[in-house]
Amino acid sequence: MMGCHDTGSDACPCFLADSGQCIACPILRGADSCDACSWNGACVYDAYVRGEKGGVRRFVRTRIIRRTTIGDGLHMVTLDTPETWQADLRLPGSFVMVKPPGAEITWSCPMAVFYVQPDGKCRIVYGDRGPKTNQLSRCSEIWEISGPYRSGLLGTRRLLQADCRSVLLLVSGTGQSLLPNILRVLRSKGCTGELLLDPGIGGVTYAMDHLPCFPGEVFLQNLDDDGEECRPGWSAVTARIAGAPGHLLISLGSDFLHRRVGAARLTNQSWVASNNQIMVCGSGWCGACTVQLRDGSEARGCKADVAPEDVIWRG
Ligand code: FES
Repeated sequence: MMGCHDTGSDACPCFLADSGQCIACPILRGADSCDACSWNGACVYDAYVRGEKGGVRRFVRTRIIRRTTIGDGLHMVTLDTPETWQADLRLPGSFVMVKPPGAEITWSCPMAVFYVQPDGKCRIVYGDRGPKTNQLSRCSEIWEISGPYRSGLLGTRRLLQADCRSVLLLVSGTGQSLLPNILRVLRSKGCTGELLLDPGIGGVTYAMDHLPCFPGEVFLQNLDDDGEECRPGWSAVTARIAGAPGHLLISLGSDFLHRRVGAARLTNQSWVASNNQIMVCGSGWCGACTVQLRDGSEARGCKADVAPEDVIWRG
């Protein structure tokens, strides 16, 4: 059973309902009943038959207030964002699509919201990884952004709804960007546990300032270098996972990290993982984000809230 990150949002129902491919509603996909509905409090079918139409997220120009290089090819950028976005930007897994001003939508790339300041300005961290991010680094004053999007995590509802009190977080590289919004939720639920943090290739623990709000212990730990499966650093991690039955596992990092976590996970450990799919439209029409699932089916990674253990991780 698969939910849609956009169910109940201003973007729902979307064009997928018209085309018989709604991710959330079996009836809109042609089924006779909604037995397989992953009901989360909003009925897409009801909204659709009442003629409601979700809005399309459009790009808006935004001012770059500040850009700081915090590591080798790693930048922290503070942006002006529309006031109406701010509640959604504070949700776990929230991200925006960013492109240079005037560029085609194919130049857009997803960037996780790292932190929303008390004054509403939004910080994101990105690395110079290829042509798209290099182009963005050349824009010194204005970017175009669309959003907010909600699908930066797989298994989000486990984080928001679960009554889990113990958590083990495994965080690597720019996976740190997802931490502040997640830690706020964990804190509000009274969760405690351990956080294993790997600065990654950039070697920068830029989320450190936000860790005091984590009600647990923090350890620096190698998690996903290009090393062997059996390197000593990882065997210590598998021991920690094995020693945390019933914990909520949260892995924020590469597909390689997720693959390892998936192999080490105990069946009684619920799992939430960062969504690393390539995205272009963020809205379900381009197919760039297609996720292969273990049952042989596919899902739109920018929309579908699939369970991490159902994904074939390629890392
Ligand atoms: S990013 Fe285009 S369909 Fe998901």
